[in-house]
Amino acid sequence: MTTSVTSIHFAPLQGYTDAMFRSLHNELWGGIAAYYTPFVRIEKGAFRRKDLADIAPAANVGVPVVPQMLPRDADELCRLADLFIDNRYTRADINMACPFPPVALHGRGAGLLPHPDAVERILEATRRYPELSFSVKMRLGWDDADDCMRLAPLLNDYSLHHVTLHPRIGKMQYKGTPSIEAFEAFGEVCRLPLIYNGDIVSVGGITRLHELFPWLSGVMIGRGLLAAPQLAAAYAAGDTRLFSPSVVSRLQHFHNALYDRLQATSQGESQLMLRLHALWQYFLPDAPRRERKSLLKARDAASYRRAAAILFDSWHEACNSDED
Ligand SMILES: Cc1cc2nc3c(=O)[nH]c(=O)nc-3n(C[C@H](O)[C@H](O)[C@H](O)COP(=O)(O)O)c2cc1C
Repeated sequence: MTTSVTSIHFAPLQGYTDAMFRSLHNELWGGIAAYYTPFVRIEKGAFRRKDLADIAPAANVGVPVVPQMLPRDADELCRLADLFIDNRYTRADINMACPFPPVALHGRGAGLLPHPDAVERILEATRRYPELSFSVKMRLGWDDADDCMRLAPLLNDYSLHHVTLHPRIGKMQYKGTPSIEAFEAFGEVCRLPLIYNGDIVSVGGITRLHELFPWLSGVMIGRGLLAAPQLAAAYAAGDTRLFSPSVVSRLQHFHNALYDRLQATSQGESQLMLRLHALWQYFLPDAPRRERKSLLKARDAASYRRAAAILFDSWHEACNSDED
């Protein structure tokens, strides 16, 4: 049996894991070695205002944050690296994983993977920044799962902090099953610390990966941590059961704090409702089904708050009766 624990990294999720979410998660749950920001990119020659706000040191105090960049070439890498240094970061993650066609078809994210020359120019530019330690987040390839095998010798030539591999190809987006076999094959040729990412949703899932690949440097979890924000803390505590009355009370507290912060930063009730509905796309799928459905039907803040209170009450009751 493996007794050591693996480190858990919170995956970047554009539209979900902004500075507000990250700091609240870190404060109320913790158990995360690093929170990656959604990608920072150059758009029409400039940085986006929301990205600048998201990586600002004042918005990230006390949280182990790694800013992520989405460069197309060496020039963009340098501009983004300078920005991160100006914001006092010493780590940077390079996105070679985004499968979104408008990104990938313009040679960014997973669109870089079939082009070793372009990847090499980007990696070569990292050498100009000894003060930044770079990691790479990637997929198996864009439409060929062997892209990563061709890139491995190149990646090995750079002193990267680590590589995170999401073992799907870009064209799969998030459909189909991540390939454990392809991850293992990459692990055999990659000499850099390696992190696994993809479809981890339970403490058992983390443990299985750790047992399968004891040499792993960690696991990165995205949607699984939106579904169960307590997942990393439960793993650290050696608790395989994700839900208990006390966890449901803490989830309610987390939800209410999130609600208050979203309300304080939304421009009006309809924006607040849009943001809440987006959150629940991935949030707490294990909550009682009927109450979750009613909550999703709420069209104004007052009925949303009522529906949320009912949901947590009935979840609490269900957990209490499971305990009996
Ligand atoms: C809504 C959404 C937004 C995402 N945004 C980013 C991003 O900004 N940068 C990135 O590298 N990956 C992004 N991803 C991919 C995730 O980081 C992660 O690799 C993917 O969800 C698989 O991990 P999971 O199964 O643990 O969620 C995003 C995924 C989703 C679903």
